[in-house]
Amino acid sequence: MPAMNAFYAQSGGVTAVINATACGVIETARKHQNKIARVYAGRNGIIGALTEDMIDTDRESAAAIKALMHTPGGAFGSARYKLKGLEENRAEYERLIEVFKAHNIGYFFYNGGNDSMDTAHKVSQISKKMGFPVTCLGVPKTVDNDLPVTDNCPGFGSVAKYVAVSTQEAALDVASMATTSTKVFILEVMGRHAGWIAAAGGLAGKKEGDAPHIILFPEVPFKKRDFLKRVRQCVRDYGFCVVVVSEGARYANGKFLADQGTRDAFGHAQLGGVASVVATMVRDNLGLKYHYAIADYLQRSARHIASATDVKQAYAVGQAAVKFALAGKSAVMPVIKRTSDKPYRWKIESAPLGRIANKEKMLPARYITKDGFGITAAARRYLEPLIRGEDYPPYVNGLPKVAKLRNVAVKPKLKTRFVV
Ligand code: F6P
Repeated sequence: MPAMNAFYAQSGGVTAVINATACGVIETARKHQNKIARVYAGRNGIIGALTEDMIDTDRESAAAIKALMHTPGGAFGSARYKLKGLEENRAEYERLIEVFKAHNIGYFFYNGGNDSMDTAHKVSQISKKMGFPVTCLGVPKTVDNDLPVTDNCPGFGSVAKYVAVSTQEAALDVASMATTSTKVFILEVMGRHAGWIAAAGGLAGKKEGDAPHIILFPEVPFKKRDFLKRVRQCVRDYGFCVVVVSEGARYANGKFLADQGTRDAFGHAQLGGVASVVATMVRDNLGLKYHYAIADYLQRSARHIASATDVKQAYAVGQAAVKFALAGKSAVMPVIKRTSDKPYRWKIESAPLGRIANKEKMLPARYITKDGFGITAAARRYLEPLIRGEDYPPYVNGLPKVAKLRNVAVKPKLKTRFVV
């Protein structure tokens, strides 16, 4: 079979290591140019395919591609853009296949979370129906760590490390001032519906009394009275209280503590601001001095403090996706399978996209302490290896050196334009 081109797109919220996955895809494809001629990347994700605005990664030097290993953000641009259901908007899928056909694209690597796996799955089905079968591979990425089947998701280990380290460091600050100043420190972390990132904050403490003293998980309905009672106890017993709160913390009726009222393309509520909601409760009810921080984008772009395990896994899933595609597998995603906790060992397998698409993996009850405010030993066993190891980027003049791509556009071939 003559070589075909590949299309690679980043999707959804980026991570500190999503570009390491891009590096894994591109470097591996470059070793098999008899089968994959060139890798085109979507400018701003899937939108780049629809609008025929693709980047020819072949125009980048080997060194520039290698530098993706230590560059956070999405090197080609990512998008929160959901292709509608086939019935609602068949035109979008048809356009995608039309572009793939025009550019001889026989491989599609979609690097994203649950929604993206659904898209990759649908593209694989419809491309067959349209008589231009495309080999479609989902490539996992999400700081939220909520994809099923895989033991963990690339992107999570680094955000987990950032949150654990920040909790530990900020706790030392609060502890040193608590007698005369701040008594409560609140760190807000991402994770949407799943409490994996919040749980990682728990790694900062080793024994009773260590910070964080309270973790607020989306999986545990928030009860104001219990929360305030615990804050008061901590301040009485330890002199201060450190709280890690997930942006997805919610009341028993399902309402988020911090629903901003806006929705993204996937219909997800825009979250953020829960730290201030919680801080206001502390001030109004307990009258304690507080500080709060919203880790926000800092946590998912903190490549300077990435987990070495995460970087390795991010590369490995990209590499495996290409290998699976070349071996004739389609509509699958490389998953990380843990084979041992101590020593931590893992390998890559493949799983059908149908088992992964649109499903969210929550923090299991056995990872949360009975009082609902902490993590168990089982959670520690799971989390600890994922944050292990340092993989510092090179520095120039005190700042991390990042990849500078040329991002040269592939010449459009179609006459029709598509507006998204
Ligand atoms: O991709 C997941 C995520 O990091 C969530 O944890 C968070 O709610 C969301 O992205 C924020 O993304 P956006 O940049 O689209 O607001």
